[in-house]
Amino acid sequence: METQPILLTGAAGTLGRACQRVAYIRGLHLIALPHAALDIADPAALTHALRHYQPWAVINAAGCVRIDAAEANAAHCYRANTLGPRLLAEACAAHGAQLLTFSCDLVFDGQQTRPYHERDAARPLSVYGHSKLLAEEAVLECLPSALVVRSSAFFSAWDDGNFVSQVLAAARQGRRFTAAHDLTISPTYLPDLLNTALDLLLDGASGRWHLTNQGSCTWAELARQALRLAGLDEASVQARPAAAFGWPARRPAYSALASEHGALLPSLESGLRRHLLDEQIGRAA
Ligand SMILES: NC(=O)c1ccc[n+]([C@@H]2O[C@H](COP(=O)([O-])OP(=O)(O)OC[C@H]3O[C@@H](n4cnc5c(N)ncnc54)[C@H](OP(=O)(O)O)[C@@H]3O)[C@@H](O)[C@H]2O)c1
Repeated sequence: METQPILLTGAAGTLGRACQRVAYIRGLHLIALPHAALDIADPAALTHALRHYQPWAVINAAGCVRIDAAEANAAHCYRANTLGPRLLAEACAAHGAQLLTFSCDLVFDGQQTRPYHERDAARPLSVYGHSKLLAEEAVLECLPSALVVRSSAFFSAWDDGNFVSQVLAAARQGRRFTAAHDLTISPTYLPDLLNTALDLLLDGASGRWHLTNQGSCTWAELARQALRLAGLDEASVQARPAAAFGWPARRPAYSALASEHGALLPSLESGLRRHLLDEQIGRAA
């Protein structure tokens, strides 16, 4: 008998592609729809997709993550990050489907000096952070059983565009790499994030959950740790203050996350070691 599927939106992005891999490894029945196949901000398209596929759950990996571009084009950002998740939550409520959607550390203002927990007050500094906070509120209002996962600074060997992959590539090519030394984050190894988020979804968890690897560091420290573990020269990292990058969007100086539910993911070092192992296996294949 065919099982009811999970429907994945934004399937061609970084999170979406990683989600497809993890679901495949776990033998989950997943229908993956990229942006071209489903616009989450189009209510008629959502209704059609949910009627057609009859999913028991929807995983929303769609979003607009161009943090700096969002300052100049807020409407585009709010459409993908706020309107889309709200419409998805409404559609899931109407069709009796569960929803897993993703938010981030940029909902916080960085004034705290200890890691942010789920119930700490959120005060975003940027359009992007605001769009994600509004989405969280709208989703949980429309569908209180929804699972809203806040995470931060994704990395994995499954894509070349993330910070860790780029640091390693630069060092191997003998290039210098510039990274902020005054923004503290909780980096997240994508396979760990997705395995834990799927466990929570399958267990029927709801509400806001912070899922990141254990530990926090600045971007410059993350770069140096990745290079150290890879046996590469840490001197290729040039540490700079965030102000030197001239980013239009304000970032919190401190946005480390921890969960009131406990330590759900392994350590950052474990994630980095597995990233490096994945790279080695990929190169050998
Ligand atoms: N990257 C991180 O470090 C990070 C950290 C914390 C949370 N998150 C969250 O994780 C989610 C995914 O991020 P990501 O890094 O995977 O971003 P990504 O690589 O840019 O992927 C996002 C995908 O969403 C698609 N999309 C945009 N608007 C859409 C719409 N209206 N309907 C359907 N699909 C749409 C994009 O398609 P197009 O390219 O065609 O627009 C793209 O394929 C976002 O919600 C983000 O806020 C990311």
